[in-house]
Amino acid sequence: MEKLRFDTPIDRYHTDSVKFDFKKEYGKEEGVLPLWVADTDFAIPKEAADAIRKRAEHPLYGYSAGDASYYDSLREWMKTRHGYEIQNDWVINTPSVVFAMVIAIRKFTKEGEAVMIQTPVYGQFYKTVVNNHRELVEVPLLQDKAKENGYEMDFAKIEQLIVERNVKAFLLCNPHNPVGRVWTKQELTRLGDILIRHDVRIISDEIHMDLAYPGYKHIVFASLKEEFAKNTITCTAPTKVFNIAGLQQANIIISEKELRNQFRQEVHSTGYMEPNIFGMIASRECYAHGAEYVDELIRYVSKNVSYVTEFVKENMPKARVIKPEGMYLLWIDFSGYGYEKDELVRRIEHVAKLWLNDGEAFGVEGRGYMRINLATTLATVKEACERMLLI
Ligand SMILES: Cc1ncc(COP(=O)(O)O)c(C=O)c1O
Repeated sequence: MEKLRFDTPIDRYHTDSVKFDFKKEYGKEEGVLPLWVADTDFAIPKEAADAIRKRAEHPLYGYSAGDASYYDSLREWMKTRHGYEIQNDWVINTPSVVFAMVIAIRKFTKEGEAVMIQTPVYGQFYKTVVNNHRELVEVPLLQDKAKENGYEMDFAKIEQLIVERNVKAFLLCNPHNPVGRVWTKQELTRLGDILIRHDVRIISDEIHMDLAYPGYKHIVFASLKEEFAKNTITCTAPTKVFNIAGLQQANIIISEKELRNQFRQEVHSTGYMEPNIFGMIASRECYAHGAEYVDELIRYVSKNVSYVTEFVKENMPKARVIKPEGMYLLWIDFSGYGYEKDELVRRIEHVAKLWLNDGEAFGVEGRGYMRINLATTLATVKEACERMLLI
């Protein structure tokens, strides 16, 4: 089952896929192998696909809303997969996690106020702050290159800059894209204590929460302490592991009533009210039936990670794979090649003919790095490795 489910290549061309069908628009050569944006090359769980098809057969698609079964499936998933007990009415839908982050920034900070991020990080973390005219406060992650992963939070710097810059909100990325850390209970508690001590609101992006590799466990930040929960907007979505980003559905969890009401008010002020019917159905069915699917996905992608890690070790001594603790995105350090600023990007694209994410898109600390998406067939991963050799 597992082999069939994830080993079967699916042609994604001519499906309006950003990754496959928009090479020209993104200025890429036709022949590049696309392993960038964070969706997977895998079919969604059968139960979800069946439910979507069944609903699609009904000839009309009027305004729709989630009934109890929608929230029950999410609540059960959070409890069984993450040990996080929520109530149905804590959940607010938005079309995406980034949308929710923007809403939270707008509602809980004022223009000109400071918002902190840890870098390198997913590019939208910068944009949500800057595009909304808040002051960006960056704290680079510490990095010990002698370790397999080696990225850590710089707690002293975080606290120092919170005080110096009067930080009002903190964007947490857990698991941290692109460096692959799944923050531990100890780290999150230490961070949370600092943030609460200085009355900093926490916007916790946990969109990659469902993919932690064996030996690692995702901890929901808000589950750690009541005082954390009261100050946190937890952003989740079924879109990453289940590959339904095109259906635009996110579940934002806020336990504190007043905070939740304020957030909801801001969502409604955008004009967004009811969710997309297909996003809703997919989310409900994936959470209700997708446990085995995610377990298999983790096993499958783990093997891809091992393959690339071994391949790089054996064939590319100047490159270094940063061991991921979660996410299907792998962070690779090519700085050992000593290429000038844009030369690595050029070689990856035009010599190796790979379409990856340039590390610098995640911050200056990412210069010389690339992010590769391994949520694809092992055959594609092997092909990517062979191409990578050419740089
Ligand atoms: C950390 C992180 N947050 C948010 C997103 C985007 O989520 P959405 O499409 O729900 O805005 C991504 C997508 O790659 C991501 O990696």
